[in-house]
Amino acid sequence: MDIIQEYYPLFLNGAWYTIQLAFVTVVLSLPFGAALALMRISSNKILSTIARVYVEIIRGTPLLVQVYLVYFGLPMFNIYLDDFISAVLAVTINSTAYMGEIMRSGIQSIDTGQTEAARALGLPKWVAFRKVLLPQAIKNILPAIGNEFAVLIKETSIVSVLGIKDLMFASDTVRGATYTTFAPLLFAALLYFIMTFTISQLMNLLENRFAKADN
Ligand code: ARG
Repeated sequence: MDIIQEYYPLFLNGAWYTIQLAFVTVVLSLPFGAALALMRISSNKILSTIARVYVEIIRGTPLLVQVYLVYFGLPMFNIYLDDFISAVLAVTINSTAYMGEIMRSGIQSIDTGQTEAARALGLPKWVAFRKVLLPQAIKNILPAIGNEFAVLIKETSIVSVLGIKDLMFASDTVRGATYTTFAPLLFAALLYFIMTFTISQLMNLLENRFAKADN
């Protein structure tokens, strides 16, 4: 435990880096995911095919490989990005696919009768989508978005293999510097858990709010 006492600032810095990385990524993947979802449900065959191919490729390949491709691939085109930016870019490319699917299924889970009723009342298609479909969809999607944030807190630990100074990297550093394995890993796990547990509690609170508002 002396090790933790000596190195905890390193862990906390790493945890803060992890939170920022996951947060910026989840925020960026909201608009990109929304665009992807709209493309997928669009009646334009080309758009929906592009979106489907994107989702299949991203979900069908490991995040680790995607992170490597961005980190080592871009410099081959003379594009040099700061560590944080390339981590955000790689994980956003990944998260956008998942977010797109979250949003698509959220939109499609709304009974088509809702749209039909709105249309029958004379609302234009886009207005029906925005005023009737979207508010209900958002309520369905929010918990999954919170979940994606928690997933990203955990999955961003992958970037530590590149020497990017997140929480996992802090744990690895301490492991190497002190020749102890268990304590640094356990402490990292504890910090990860605190972060994801906080998010899931916040999401529960939000869902209860919604449930009350419905009654
Ligand atoms: N372990 C998965 C992979 O390597 C992580 C996918 C990321 N998931 C997410 N919801 N963004 O593909």
